[in-house]
Amino acid sequence: MATDDDRADLRQLVAGLRTYLEARGRSGLLGVSTAATPRTPAAAPALRVVPDMDAPDAPDLASVRQELGDCQRCKLCGERKNIVFGTGNPDAALVFVGEAPGADEDEQGEPFVGRAGQLLTKMIEAMGFGRSDVYICNVLKCRPPQNRNPEPDEVASCEPFLQKQLAVLQPRMIVTLGKFAAHALLREQTPITRLRGNFRTYEGIPLMPTYHPAFLLRDPSRKREAWEDLQAVMAALREMGIEPPNAPRA
Ligand code: URA
Repeated sequence: MATDDDRADLRQLVAGLRTYLEARGRSGLLGVSTAATPRTPAAAPALRVVPDMDAPDAPDLASVRQELGDCQRCKLCGERKNIVFGTGNPDAALVFVGEAPGADEDEQGEPFVGRAGQLLTKMIEAMGFGRSDVYICNVLKCRPPQNRNPEPDEVASCEPFLQKQLAVLQPRMIVTLGKFAAHALLREQTPITRLRGNFRTYEGIPLMPTYHPAFLLRDPSRKREAWEDLQAVMAALREMGIEPPNAPRA
C-alpha cells in the first residue's frame, strides 16, 4: 500500500518532470519520449514536448530552413545538388516522413518526385488528400551517393532538423515510410515488418509506420498491408474530426 509519504514523493517527481519538460520545450529542444505502443491513437499519452510557439523567437519552417543553411554538417554535402528540405502544407494535419532524397529529388530539390514519389502521390490521393494538403519530408535532407542507406553519423547530423520541422508543423498524425524514418523517430531498431500497422507516438503525436513506396515497387504483394495501414490512419483522422478534402475511393 502506498503511504502518504510515497504519494507526496510521487507528486514531487511528477511536478519536477513537468517543469523539466516545459523547460526543454521552451528551449526548443525536443525530448525523445517514445511511449509504449498504444492500441489506438486515441490511447496515446497527451504529453507533447514542443517549443513554446508563442515565444517571440518561436521557430517557423522558414527559420528551420535558414538554420540548415548551406549545410556542411556531414559528408553528404560534397555530392549533393540540392538540399531537399520538405514540401507541402505548413498547416498539414498529416505528415509523411521518408528516408532520404534520391537522384530525382536531388535534381529538383523536392521530396518524393521520382518513381517512389509517384507511388506515394497515388497513396496520398487514394486517402482523399492531395500532395499540397499534406507535408512531405525525409530524415536526411541530402542524397546519399548511389542511394545507399543513410549512415548513423548522417542521421545524427540531420535528424535535429526533422525534429524541428515536426515541432513547428505539430501535425495530428505522422506516417513514416520505411525502416529508417520509423527507427529515427521511434529510437528503436525493430524490423519494419513488425513495426508497420501499429500506432505508436512521437512526442505525443500518433505515428503509423508503414512500408516505403520504393519497397512496394520492388514487392507489390506488400501493397495490401500498406493500404491497411493507411486506412487505419484515415479512420484515426476521421475520429479526430479530420476529413480528407476528396472522398477516398471505395
Ligand atoms: N525516397 C525517400 O525516402 N525520399 C524521397 O524523397 C525519395 C525517395
